[in-house]
Amino acid sequence: MKVTIENVSKSYGKKQALKGVSFEMENGVYGLLGPNGAGKSTLIRILVGVMEASGGEVYMNGRNRKSCAREYRSKIGYLPQSLGFYPEFSGLDYLRYVAALKGLAGEKAEQKITDLVNQVHLTEDIRRKAITYSGGMKRRLGIAQALLNDPEILILDEPTAGLDPHERIKFRNLVSIFSRDRTVLLSTHIVTDIDSISKQTVMIKEGKVGRMGTNQSFVEAMNGKVWLMKMTVDELVDFQNSRIISNVLPLGDRMEVRVVSAEKPAKDAEPAQPNLEDAYLYEFESIGRASGEAFQI
Ligand SMILES: Nc1ncnc2c1ncn2[C@@H]1O[C@H](COP(=O)(O)OP(=O)(O)OP(=O)(O)O)[C@@H](O)[C@H]1O
Ligand SMILES: [Mg+2]
Repeated sequence: MKVTIENVSKSYGKKQALKGVSFEMENGVYGLLGPNGAGKSTLIRILVGVMEASGGEVYMNGRNRKSCAREYRSKIGYLPQSLGFYPEFSGLDYLRYVAALKGLAGEKAEQKITDLVNQVHLTEDIRRKAITYSGGMKRRLGIAQALLNDPEILILDEPTAGLDPHERIKFRNLVSIFSRDRTVLLSTHIVTDIDSISKQTVMIKEGKVGRMGTNQSFVEAMNGKVWLMKMTVDELVDFQNSRIISNVLPLGDRMEVRVVSAEKPAKDAEPAQPNLEDAYLYEFESIGRASGEAFQI
């Protein structure tokens, strides 16, 4: 299944949340990476069809979505950024409810639910109230409901928000397995959610696609732009205001500072092997903010 997003824009009143976004997806995991407010959820809601774009088109295998809206919707599975549960619903009640909404019923629905619950490792807890689940379990229940209609396209909006590292890894593996013969779009602002599983990453900022490519291409483009330097805490306080800093490591009485910079930041700076996080910082030019997050006095 090929999905083409062509020049999609969206305004909320005066606020232009999407400014002509275009890209294409076909099988595999696509990462939609961008900071808070970049327009990820807006784009996803338009893609899923729960919100109208102000301009632009979405095509499915070359056909305009508007001409095949019902078929398109039946092929999509969607995990929204926040998922609410009725307090009295068990995990099983919830899945039966969503199955009914998706037009699945009877033995077929029960079989599908049993299989999915097993795949997302919720069999033991499925009769318990969903609101008592941990964050990770809720997300896994969320992915199960998104898969009830055997979607060809799976769209996950910040699926790992609030998960601990263990649940995050489990979730990532689950997505990777499901993506074998499906198209998955996963939005996140956490680079490690996608650096090992996504085929392509779409970087979105301020409603525009910045760059798009394989993770390897992003990393390669950073060659010669990542440096290691040693400095004191006092020096770092000044330095971080004018530089992109991707990591700080205490090293004896000094700090080893990882700097993202097109030019060599100082005579004694040593070149370092770049990673996707460096590319993300470089793309979003989070000067000051990134360093503030990495290092606080
Ligand atoms: N219903 C709305 N009314 C007005 N402005 C909105 C609305 N929804 C989103 N916005 C604005 O549009 C921009 C994009 O929001 P969106 O939720 O798509 O971003 P996001 O990338 O999903 O962010 P986050 O990482 O915080 O989920 C933001 O500036 C946001 O404040
Ligand atoms: Mg969002």
